[in-house]
Amino acid sequence: MPNQPREQWGTRAGFLLAAIGSAIGLGNIWRFPAVAYDGGGGAFLLPYLIALLTAGLPLLIMEYTIGRKYRKSPPAAFRRLIRPGEAVGWWQVAICFVIATYYAVILSWAVRYVGFSVGQQWGDDPGAFLFGDFLRVAEEPGSVSEYVPGVLWPLIAVWVVVLVILAFGIRRGIEAANKIFIPLLVVFFLVLVVRALTLDGAEIGLDAFFTPDWDALTDGTVWVAAYGQIFFSLSIGFGIMVTYASYLRRRADLTGSALVAGLANSSFELLAGIGVFATLGFLAASTGGQIGDVQGGLGLAFVAFPTIISEMPAGAFFGVLFFGSLVIAGLSSLISIVQVIVSAVQDRTGMNRQAAVFGVGGAVALVSIVLFPTDGGLYLLDSSDHFINQYGIALAALASVVVLIWVPWFMDRRNNLATLQQNADATSAVRLGHWWQICLGIITPLGLGWMLVDALRQELDENYEGYSTGFLLATGWSVAIGALLIGVLLSLIPWKQADRDAGLDEDILDEGKS
Ligand code: ALA
Repeated sequence: MPNQPREQWGTRAGFLLAAIGSAIGLGNIWRFPAVAYDGGGGAFLLPYLIALLTAGLPLLIMEYTIGRKYRKSPPAAFRRLIRPGEAVGWWQVAICFVIATYYAVILSWAVRYVGFSVGQQWGDDPGAFLFGDFLRVAEEPGSVSEYVPGVLWPLIAVWVVVLVILAFGIRRGIEAANKIFIPLLVVFFLVLVVRALTLDGAEIGLDAFFTPDWDALTDGTVWVAAYGQIFFSLSIGFGIMVTYASYLRRRADLTGSALVAGLANSSFELLAGIGVFATLGFLAASTGGQIGDVQGGLGLAFVAFPTIISEMPAGAFFGVLFFGSLVIAGLSSLISIVQVIVSAVQDRTGMNRQAAVFGVGGAVALVSIVLFPTDGGLYLLDSSDHFINQYGIALAALASVVVLIWVPWFMDRRNNLATLQQNADATSAVRLGHWWQICLGIITPLGLGWMLVDALRQELDENYEGYSTGFLLATGWSVAIGALLIGVLLSLIPWKQADRDAGLDEDILDEGKS
Protein backbone atom coordinates (compact mmCIF):
# COMPACT_ATOMS: atom_id res chain seq x y z
CA MET A 1 0.00 0.00 0.00
CA PRO A 2 1.47 3.39 -0.93
CA ASN A 3 2.47 5.31 2.14
CA GLN A 4 1.61 8.96 1.58
CA PRO A 5 3.37 11.53 3.77
CA ARG A 6 1.09 12.80 6.49
CA GLU A 7 -0.46 16.21 5.98
CA GLN A 8 0.62 18.99 8.35
CA TRP A 9 -0.78 22.23 9.70
CA GLY A 10 0.75 25.25 7.99
CA THR A 11 1.45 27.22 11.15
CA ARG A 12 1.11 26.88 14.91
CA ALA A 13 -1.54 29.62 14.84
CA GLY A 14 -3.42 27.62 12.22
CA PHE A 15 -3.46 24.53 14.44
CA LEU A 16 -4.52 26.60 17.45
CA LEU A 17 -7.37 28.25 15.56
CA ALA A 18 -8.60 24.84 14.42
CA ALA A 19 -8.35 23.41 17.95
CA ILE A 20 -10.16 26.43 19.39
CA GLY A 21 -12.73 26.21 16.61
CA SER A 22 -13.37 22.60 17.53
CA ALA A 23 -13.71 23.38 21.22
CA ILE A 24 -16.01 26.37 20.84
CA GLY A 25 -19.33 25.05 19.68
CA LEU A 26 -22.92 24.55 20.68
CA GLY A 27 -21.64 23.38 24.08
CA ASN A 28 -20.35 26.88 24.86
CA ILE A 29 -23.26 28.90 23.63
CA TRP A 30 -26.29 26.95 24.65
CA ARG A 31 -25.13 24.47 27.22
CA PHE A 32 -22.76 26.36 29.51
CA PRO A 33 -25.06 29.27 30.55
CA ALA A 34 -27.82 26.90 31.67
CA VAL A 35 -25.49 24.40 33.35
CA ALA A 36 -23.75 27.21 35.24
CA TYR A 37 -27.01 28.81 36.31
CA ASP A 38 -28.45 25.51 37.58
CA GLY A 39 -25.16 24.71 39.28
CA GLY A 40 -25.14 27.68 41.63
CA GLY A 41 -24.39 30.67 39.35
CA GLY A 42 -21.18 32.36 40.45
CA ALA A 43 -20.41 29.45 42.77
CA PHE A 44 -20.37 27.07 39.79
CA LEU A 45 -17.15 28.67 38.63
CA LEU A 46 -15.37 26.81 41.42
CA PRO A 47 -16.23 23.22 40.37
CA TYR A 48 -15.85 24.32 36.76
CA LEU A 49 -12.30 25.56 37.34
CA ILE A 50 -11.40 22.50 39.39
CA ALA A 51 -12.73 20.22 36.63
CA LEU A 52 -10.78 22.20 34.05
CA LEU A 53 -7.51 22.03 35.98
CA THR A 54 -7.72 18.46 37.29
CA ALA A 55 -9.23 16.71 34.29
CA GLY A 56 -9.81 18.95 31.27
CA LEU A 57 -6.36 20.38 30.69
CA PRO A 58 -4.45 17.24 31.76
CA LEU A 59 -6.47 15.08 29.36
CA LEU A 60 -6.15 17.65 26.60
CA ILE A 61 -2.36 17.59 27.02
CA MET A 62 -2.39 13.78 26.99
CA GLU A 63 -4.43 13.70 23.78
CA TYR A 64 -2.16 16.27 22.10
CA THR A 65 0.92 14.30 23.11
CA ILE A 66 -0.39 10.93 21.91
CA GLY A 67 -1.51 12.44 18.59
CA ARG A 68 1.77 14.25 17.99
CA LYS A 69 3.97 11.35 19.12
CA TYR A 70 2.32 8.61 17.05
CA ARG A 71 1.03 10.81 14.23
CA LYS A 72 -2.11 8.79 13.86
CA SER A 73 -5.81 9.05 14.62
CA PRO A 74 -7.02 7.33 17.83
CA PRO A 75 -7.28 3.66 16.72
CA ALA A 76 -3.75 3.44 15.34
CA ALA A 77 -2.24 5.80 17.92
CA PHE A 78 -3.75 3.99 20.92
CA ARG A 79 -2.73 0.65 19.41
CA ARG A 80 0.88 1.81 19.54
CA LEU A 81 0.57 2.38 23.28
CA ILE A 82 -1.07 -0.98 23.93
CA ARG A 83 -2.83 -3.41 21.60
CA PRO A 84 -6.33 -3.27 23.23
CA GLY A 85 -6.12 0.52 22.97
CA GLU A 86 -7.24 0.19 19.36
CA ALA A 87 -10.74 -0.78 20.52
CA VAL A 88 -10.99 2.43 22.58
CA GLY A 89 -9.83 4.36 19.51
CA TRP A 90 -12.51 2.88 17.23
CA TRP A 91 -15.08 3.40 19.96
CA GLN A 92 -14.23 7.12 19.94
CA VAL A 93 -14.54 7.13 16.15
CA ALA A 94 -17.98 5.52 16.42
CA ILE A 95 -18.99 8.16 18.99
CA CYS A 96 -17.94 10.86 16.53
CA PHE A 97 -20.08 9.17 13.86
CA VAL A 98 -23.15 9.38 16.08
CA ILE A 99 -22.53 12.94 17.24
CA ALA A 100 -21.84 14.19 13.71
CA THR A 101 -25.18 12.86 12.43
CA TYR A 102 -27.24 14.98 14.82
CA TYR A 103 -24.90 17.92 15.42
CA ALA A 104 -25.36 18.82 11.73
CA VAL A 105 -29.14 18.82 12.23
CA ILE A 106 -28.93 21.46 14.97
CA LEU A 107 -26.78 23.54 12.65
CA SER A 108 -29.39 23.25 9.94
CA TRP A 109 -32.00 24.67 12.33
CA ALA A 110 -29.67 27.55 13.17
CA VAL A 111 -29.17 28.22 9.44
CA ARG A 112 -32.94 28.52 9.00
CA TYR A 113 -33.24 30.76 12.05
CA VAL A 114 -30.74 33.23 10.60
CA GLY A 115 -33.33 33.74 7.88
CA PHE A 116 -36.34 33.62 10.22
CA SER A 117 -34.74 36.36 12.36
CA VAL A 118 -34.98 38.90 9.56
CA GLY A 119 -38.77 38.92 9.44
CA GLN A 120 -39.25 37.40 12.91
CA GLN A 121 -41.21 34.69 11.23
CA TRP A 122 -41.92 32.87 14.48
CA GLY A 123 -44.70 35.38 15.25
CA ASP A 124 -46.15 35.67 18.75
CA ASP A 125 -45.48 32.14 19.88
CA PRO A 126 -41.93 30.96 19.07
CA GLY A 127 -42.50 27.65 20.90
CA ALA A 128 -45.50 26.73 18.77
CA PHE A 129 -43.65 27.87 15.67
CA LEU A 130 -40.58 25.75 16.45
CA PHE A 131 -42.33 22.51 17.31
CA GLY A 132 -45.35 22.94 15.02
CA ASP A 133 -44.73 25.00 11.89
CA PHE A 134 -41.01 24.40 11.59
CA LEU A 135 -40.12 20.95 12.96
CA ARG A 136 -43.66 19.49 12.71
CA VAL A 137 -42.86 17.30 15.67
CA ALA A 138 -44.97 14.14 15.93
CA GLU A 139 -47.22 13.61 18.95
CA GLU A 140 -45.50 10.43 20.03
CA PRO A 141 -41.79 9.66 20.29
CA GLY A 142 -40.96 6.85 17.91
CA SER A 143 -43.62 7.58 15.30
CA VAL A 144 -42.36 8.78 11.94
CA SER A 145 -44.74 9.70 9.15
CA GLU A 146 -43.20 12.45 7.04
CA TYR A 147 -40.07 14.24 5.92
CA VAL A 148 -39.74 17.88 6.92
CA PRO A 149 -38.38 19.73 3.86
CA GLY A 150 -37.67 22.88 5.88
CA VAL A 151 -34.97 20.94 7.74
CA LEU A 152 -33.92 18.67 4.90
CA TRP A 153 -32.50 21.25 2.50
CA PRO A 154 -30.46 23.29 4.99
CA LEU A 155 -29.14 19.99 6.34
CA ILE A 156 -27.97 18.97 2.88
CA ALA A 157 -26.33 22.42 2.54
CA VAL A 158 -24.52 22.02 5.88
CA TRP A 159 -23.14 18.66 4.78
CA VAL A 160 -22.00 19.96 1.41
CA VAL A 161 -20.07 22.79 3.11
CA VAL A 162 -18.49 20.44 5.66
CA LEU A 163 -17.42 17.82 3.11
CA VAL A 164 -16.04 20.38 0.66
CA ILE A 165 -13.93 22.03 3.39
CA LEU A 166 -12.68 18.62 4.52
CA ALA A 167 -11.86 17.59 0.96
CA PHE A 168 -9.43 20.50 0.68
CA GLY A 169 -7.36 18.92 3.43
CA ILE A 170 -5.80 19.94 6.71
CA ARG A 171 -4.02 23.09 5.61
CA ARG A 172 -6.03 24.33 2.66
CA GLY A 173 -9.39 23.19 4.04
CA ILE A 174 -9.67 23.02 7.83
CA GLU A 175 -6.95 25.54 8.69
CA ALA A 176 -8.02 28.03 6.02
CA ALA A 177 -11.69 27.80 7.05
CA ASN A 178 -10.91 28.33 10.73
CA LYS A 179 -8.81 31.38 9.89
CA ILE A 180 -12.06 32.92 8.63
CA PHE A 181 -14.48 31.34 11.11
CA ILE A 182 -12.79 32.23 14.37
CA PRO A 183 -12.15 35.97 13.82
CA LEU A 184 -15.69 36.25 12.44
CA LEU A 185 -17.11 34.45 15.46
CA VAL A 186 -15.20 36.68 17.87
CA VAL A 187 -16.46 39.84 16.15
CA PHE A 188 -20.06 38.58 16.00
CA PHE A 189 -19.98 37.54 19.61
CA LEU A 190 -18.38 40.70 20.94
CA VAL A 191 -21.01 42.81 19.17
CA LEU A 192 -23.71 40.52 20.59
CA VAL A 193 -22.42 40.74 24.14
CA VAL A 194 -21.93 44.51 24.04
CA ARG A 195 -25.48 44.88 22.69
CA ALA A 196 -26.80 42.53 25.37
CA LEU A 197 -25.03 44.46 28.13
CA THR A 198 -26.56 47.73 26.99
CA LEU A 199 -30.12 46.39 27.07
CA ASP A 200 -32.44 47.59 29.85
CA GLY A 201 -32.48 45.02 32.63
CA ALA A 202 -29.14 43.44 31.71
CA GLU A 203 -28.03 43.81 35.32
CA ILE A 204 -30.94 41.67 36.53
CA GLY A 205 -29.67 38.81 34.40
CA LEU A 206 -26.06 39.27 35.42
CA ASP A 207 -27.06 39.33 39.07
CA ALA A 208 -28.89 36.06 38.62
CA PHE A 209 -25.96 34.53 36.76
CA PHE A 210 -23.19 35.60 39.08
CA THR A 211 -24.83 35.59 42.53
CA PRO A 212 -23.16 32.59 44.11
CA ASP A 213 -25.30 29.91 45.68
CA TRP A 214 -22.63 28.19 47.73
CA ASP A 215 -25.06 25.53 48.97
CA ALA A 216 -25.21 24.15 45.43
CA LEU A 217 -21.62 22.96 45.85
CA THR A 218 -22.69 20.38 48.41
CA ASP A 219 -24.77 18.73 45.67
CA GLY A 220 -22.75 16.03 43.90
CA THR A 221 -24.67 16.45 40.66
CA VAL A 222 -23.28 19.99 40.30
CA TRP A 223 -19.74 18.61 40.28
CA VAL A 224 -20.74 15.92 37.85
CA ALA A 225 -22.22 18.59 35.59
CA ALA A 226 -18.99 20.60 35.76
CA TYR A 227 -16.90 17.62 34.64
CA GLY A 228 -19.40 16.76 31.89
CA GLN A 229 -19.38 20.32 30.60
CA ILE A 230 -15.60 20.45 30.47
CA PHE A 231 -15.30 17.23 28.43
CA PHE A 232 -17.85 18.10 25.79
CA SER A 233 -16.78 21.67 25.57
CA LEU A 234 -13.04 21.06 25.25
CA SER A 235 -13.73 18.33 22.65
CA ILE A 236 -11.85 15.73 24.70
CA GLY A 237 -12.72 12.07 25.12
CA PHE A 238 -13.87 11.56 21.55
CA GLY A 239 -10.69 11.52 19.59
CA ILE A 240 -10.72 15.01 18.12
CA MET A 241 -7.64 16.37 19.81
CA VAL A 242 -5.60 13.20 19.18
CA THR A 243 -6.51 13.52 15.51
CA TYR A 244 -5.78 17.24 15.20
CA ALA A 245 -2.45 16.85 17.02
CA SER A 246 -1.45 14.02 14.67
CA TYR A 247 -0.96 16.65 11.96
CA LEU A 248 1.47 18.70 14.08
CA ARG A 249 5.13 19.03 13.32
CA ARG A 250 7.51 17.04 15.47
CA ARG A 251 8.85 20.06 17.31
CA ALA A 252 5.48 21.74 17.95
CA ASP A 253 4.85 23.13 21.43
CA LEU A 254 2.15 21.04 23.12
CA THR A 255 1.54 22.18 26.66
CA GLY A 256 1.48 25.89 25.76
CA SER A 257 -0.99 25.19 22.95
CA ALA A 258 -3.23 23.20 25.29
CA LEU A 259 -3.24 26.06 27.81
CA VAL A 260 -4.07 28.62 25.11
CA ALA A 261 -6.86 26.46 23.66
CA GLY A 262 -8.30 25.73 27.11
CA LEU A 263 -8.19 29.37 28.16
CA ALA A 264 -9.76 30.57 24.90
CA ASN A 265 -12.54 28.02 25.22
CA SER A 266 -13.35 28.91 28.81
CA SER A 267 -13.21 32.65 28.12
CA PHE A 268 -15.66 32.20 25.30
CA GLU A 269 -17.88 30.13 27.54
CA LEU A 270 -17.94 32.86 30.16
CA LEU A 271 -18.63 35.48 27.53
CA ALA A 272 -21.55 33.40 26.27
CA GLY A 273 -22.89 33.16 29.83
CA ILE A 274 -22.68 36.95 30.24
CA GLY A 275 -24.34 37.58 26.88
CA VAL A 276 -27.14 35.09 27.41
CA PHE A 277 -27.96 36.25 30.94
CA ALA A 278 -27.84 39.95 30.09
CA THR A 279 -30.37 39.17 27.36
CA LEU A 280 -32.57 37.13 29.71
CA GLY A 281 -32.43 40.08 32.12
CA PHE A 282 -33.88 42.28 29.40
CA LEU A 283 -36.78 39.84 28.96
CA ALA A 284 -37.39 39.75 32.71
CA ALA A 285 -37.41 43.56 32.89
CA SER A 286 -39.72 43.99 29.92
CA THR A 287 -42.26 41.43 31.10
CA GLY A 288 -42.03 42.46 34.74
CA GLY A 289 -41.05 38.91 35.59
CA GLN A 290 -37.98 37.30 37.05
CA ILE A 291 -35.29 35.04 35.74
CA GLY A 292 -36.88 31.74 36.64
CA ASP A 293 -35.80 28.38 35.33
CA VAL A 294 -33.35 28.69 32.51
CA GLN A 295 -33.47 25.93 29.93
CA GLY A 296 -30.40 25.04 28.02
CA GLY A 297 -30.27 23.83 24.45
CA LEU A 298 -33.30 23.94 22.28
CA GLY A 299 -35.48 25.93 24.65
CA LEU A 300 -32.88 28.64 25.13
CA ALA A 301 -31.73 29.11 21.55
CA PHE A 302 -34.89 28.47 19.58
CA VAL A 303 -37.65 29.58 21.96
CA ALA A 304 -36.32 32.06 24.55
CA PHE A 305 -34.05 33.93 22.15
CA PRO A 306 -36.68 34.41 19.42
CA THR A 307 -39.07 35.74 22.09
CA ILE A 308 -36.46 38.25 23.16
CA ILE A 309 -35.49 39.17 19.59
CA SER A 310 -39.11 40.09 18.90
CA GLU A 311 -39.16 42.34 21.97
CA MET A 312 -35.96 44.27 21.43
CA PRO A 313 -35.19 47.21 19.20
CA ALA A 314 -33.29 46.15 16.04
CA GLY A 315 -34.05 42.54 16.96
CA ALA A 316 -33.43 41.27 13.43
CA PHE A 317 -29.80 42.37 13.58
CA PHE A 318 -29.37 40.71 16.98
CA GLY A 319 -31.02 37.52 15.74
CA VAL A 320 -28.83 37.27 12.64
CA LEU A 321 -25.73 37.72 14.82
CA PHE A 322 -26.87 35.17 17.40
CA PHE A 323 -27.87 32.42 14.99
CA GLY A 324 -24.95 33.28 12.72
CA SER A 325 -22.63 32.71 15.70
CA LEU A 326 -24.27 29.35 16.37
CA VAL A 327 -23.75 28.33 12.75
CA ILE A 328 -20.08 29.36 12.66
CA ALA A 329 -19.21 27.88 16.06
CA GLY A 330 -21.03 24.67 15.20
CA LEU A 331 -19.50 24.30 11.74
CA SER A 332 -15.92 24.46 13.01
CA SER A 333 -16.77 21.81 15.64
CA LEU A 334 -18.61 19.56 13.18
CA ILE A 335 -15.67 19.67 10.80
CA SER A 336 -13.38 18.41 13.58
CA ILE A 337 -15.79 15.63 14.53
CA VAL A 338 -16.03 14.31 10.96
CA GLN A 339 -12.25 14.66 10.51
CA VAL A 340 -11.76 12.01 13.23
CA ILE A 341 -13.70 9.48 11.15
CA VAL A 342 -12.02 10.44 7.89
CA SER A 343 -8.56 10.30 9.43
CA ALA A 344 -9.15 6.93 11.13
CA VAL A 345 -10.28 5.34 7.87
CA GLN A 346 -7.35 6.86 5.98
CA ASP A 347 -4.88 5.57 8.56
CA ARG A 348 -6.39 2.11 8.47
CA THR A 349 -6.85 1.70 4.72
CA GLY A 350 -4.38 4.08 3.11
CA MET A 351 -7.29 5.64 1.17
CA ASN A 352 -6.63 9.13 -0.18
CA ARG A 353 -8.33 12.11 1.44
CA GLN A 354 -10.96 12.80 -1.21
CA ALA A 355 -12.09 9.18 -1.32
CA ALA A 356 -12.28 9.03 2.47
CA VAL A 357 -14.12 12.37 2.75
CA PHE A 358 -16.73 11.63 0.12
CA GLY A 359 -16.96 7.90 0.83
CA VAL A 360 -16.96 7.82 4.62
CA GLY A 361 -17.92 11.43 5.35
CA GLY A 362 -20.61 10.99 2.70
CA ALA A 363 -21.93 7.94 4.55
CA VAL A 364 -22.19 9.95 7.80
CA ALA A 365 -24.03 12.67 5.88
CA LEU A 366 -26.39 10.13 4.37
CA VAL A 367 -27.31 8.63 7.74
CA SER A 368 -27.89 12.14 9.10
CA ILE A 369 -30.03 13.16 6.11
CA VAL A 370 -32.09 9.96 6.11
CA LEU A 371 -32.77 9.73 9.85
CA PHE A 372 -33.24 13.19 11.26
CA PRO A 373 -35.26 15.59 9.09
CA THR A 374 -38.52 13.81 9.88
CA ASP A 375 -41.34 14.56 12.28
CA GLY A 376 -39.80 12.03 14.68
CA GLY A 377 -36.28 13.45 14.31
CA LEU A 378 -36.32 15.66 17.39
CA TYR A 379 -37.03 12.77 19.77
CA LEU A 380 -34.34 10.65 18.15
CA LEU A 381 -31.85 13.51 18.41
CA ASP A 382 -32.68 14.18 22.04
CA SER A 383 -32.36 10.57 23.11
CA SER A 384 -29.17 9.74 21.18
CA ASP A 385 -27.53 13.00 22.31
CA HIS A 386 -28.25 12.23 25.94
CA PHE A 387 -26.98 8.65 25.85
CA ILE A 388 -23.93 9.19 23.70
CA ASN A 389 -22.85 12.08 25.94
CA GLN A 390 -23.38 10.24 29.20
CA TYR A 391 -22.21 6.79 28.23
CA GLY A 392 -20.13 7.52 25.17
CA ILE A 393 -17.82 10.45 25.71
CA ALA A 394 -17.36 10.11 29.46
CA LEU A 395 -17.03 6.34 29.44
CA ALA A 396 -14.63 6.35 26.47
CA ALA A 397 -12.51 9.01 28.19
CA LEU A 398 -12.40 6.84 31.32
CA ALA A 399 -11.56 3.78 29.20
CA SER A 400 -8.73 5.66 27.51
CA VAL A 401 -7.08 6.41 30.86
CA VAL A 402 -7.65 2.91 32.20
CA VAL A 403 -6.51 1.04 29.07
CA LEU A 404 -3.65 3.31 28.05
CA ILE A 405 -2.31 4.21 31.50
CA TRP A 406 -3.48 1.83 34.20
CA VAL A 407 -3.33 -1.49 32.35
CA PRO A 408 0.30 -1.13 31.18
CA TRP A 409 1.23 -0.05 34.70
CA PHE A 410 -0.43 -3.01 36.42
CA MET A 411 0.70 -5.50 33.77
CA ASP A 412 4.37 -4.70 33.58
CA ARG A 413 4.98 -1.49 35.55
CA ARG A 414 5.18 0.46 32.30
CA ASN A 415 4.57 4.13 33.13
CA ASN A 416 3.13 5.48 29.89
CA LEU A 417 2.43 8.79 31.59
CA ALA A 418 6.10 9.32 32.32
CA THR A 419 6.97 8.55 28.67
CA LEU A 420 4.30 10.92 27.41
CA GLN A 421 5.37 13.61 29.86
CA GLN A 422 8.93 13.37 28.58
CA ASN A 423 7.70 13.64 25.03
CA ALA A 424 5.58 16.73 25.77
CA ASP A 425 8.28 18.40 27.85
CA ALA A 426 10.89 17.93 25.13
CA THR A 427 9.24 20.53 22.91
CA SER A 428 7.05 22.61 25.24
CA ALA A 429 7.85 25.93 26.85
CA VAL A 430 5.76 25.01 29.91
CA ARG A 431 7.04 21.90 31.73
CA LEU A 432 4.61 19.40 33.20
CA GLY A 433 5.08 18.59 36.86
CA HIS A 434 4.14 15.52 38.86
CA TRP A 435 0.71 17.08 39.23
CA TRP A 436 0.00 16.11 35.63
CA GLN A 437 0.52 12.42 36.29
CA ILE A 438 -1.43 12.59 39.54
CA CYS A 439 -4.37 14.37 37.90
CA LEU A 440 -4.51 12.02 34.94
CA GLY A 441 -3.72 8.80 36.72
CA ILE A 442 -5.92 9.35 39.76
CA ILE A 443 -8.19 12.40 39.82
CA THR A 444 -9.48 12.20 36.23
CA PRO A 445 -10.54 8.53 36.43
CA LEU A 446 -12.10 9.05 39.86
CA GLY A 447 -14.02 12.11 38.63
CA LEU A 448 -15.18 10.27 35.53
CA GLY A 449 -16.09 7.11 37.43
CA TRP A 450 -18.16 9.10 39.89
CA MET A 451 -19.83 10.94 37.02
CA LEU A 452 -20.87 7.68 35.43
CA VAL A 453 -22.20 6.11 38.61
CA ASP A 454 -24.26 9.23 39.29
CA ALA A 455 -25.59 9.34 35.73
CA LEU A 456 -26.56 5.68 35.88
CA ARG A 457 -28.31 6.18 39.20
CA GLN A 458 -30.45 8.96 37.71
CA GLU A 459 -31.11 6.87 34.60
CA LEU A 460 -32.46 4.00 36.67
CA ASP A 461 -34.46 6.33 38.93
CA GLU A 462 -36.57 7.64 36.09
CA ASN A 463 -36.71 7.36 32.32
CA TYR A 464 -34.95 10.21 30.57
CA GLU A 465 -37.55 12.90 29.70
CA GLY A 466 -40.26 10.41 30.61
CA TYR A 467 -39.80 8.56 27.30
CA SER A 468 -40.96 4.95 27.19
CA THR A 469 -38.42 2.26 28.02
CA GLY A 470 -38.81 0.74 24.54
CA PHE A 471 -38.03 4.06 22.88
CA LEU A 472 -34.97 4.65 25.08
CA LEU A 473 -33.71 1.13 24.39
CA ALA A 474 -34.11 1.58 20.64
CA THR A 475 -32.70 5.09 20.29
CA GLY A 476 -30.48 5.69 23.32
CA TRP A 477 -29.05 2.58 24.94
CA SER A 478 -28.64 0.81 21.61
CA VAL A 479 -26.73 3.80 20.21
CA ALA A 480 -24.38 4.04 23.19
CA ILE A 481 -23.80 0.29 23.47
CA GLY A 482 -23.64 -0.07 19.67
CA ALA A 483 -20.78 2.46 19.48
CA LEU A 484 -18.82 0.44 22.02
CA LEU A 485 -19.46 -2.87 20.23
CA ILE A 486 -18.51 -1.43 16.85
CA GLY A 487 -15.30 -0.14 18.40
CA VAL A 488 -14.40 -3.58 19.71
CA LEU A 489 -15.38 -5.36 16.48
CA LEU A 490 -13.37 -3.02 14.26
CA SER A 491 -10.33 -3.53 16.45
CA LEU A 492 -10.57 -7.29 15.95
CA ILE A 493 -10.12 -7.09 12.17
CA PRO A 494 -6.52 -8.16 11.70
CA TRP A 495 -4.03 -5.72 10.17
CA LYS A 496 -2.11 -6.95 7.19
CA GLN A 497 1.61 -7.06 7.85
CA ALA A 498 2.07 -4.51 5.05
CA ASP A 499 -0.23 -2.00 6.80
CA ARG A 500 1.64 -2.41 10.03
CA ASP A 501 4.98 -1.89 8.37
CA ALA A 502 3.73 1.08 6.42
CA GLY A 503 2.67 2.88 9.59
CA LEU A 504 5.86 1.97 11.36
CA ASP A 505 8.10 3.09 8.52
CA GLU A 506 6.41 6.43 8.43
CA ASP A 507 7.10 6.95 12.11
CA ILE A 508 10.69 5.92 11.86
CA LEU A 509 11.22 8.18 8.86
CA ASP A 510 9.61 11.08 10.68
CA GLU A 511 11.64 10.43 13.81
CA GLY A 512 14.76 10.57 11.69
CA LYS A 513 13.75 13.91 10.21
CA SER A 514 13.21 15.66 13.53
N1 ALA B 1 -16.65 21.11 21.74
C1 ALA B 1 -17.76 21.16 20.88
C2 ALA B 1 -18.89 21.91 21.48
O1 ALA B 1 -18.75 22.53 22.51
C3 ALA B 1 -18.15 19.79 20.46
O2 ALA B 1 -19.95 21.94 20.93
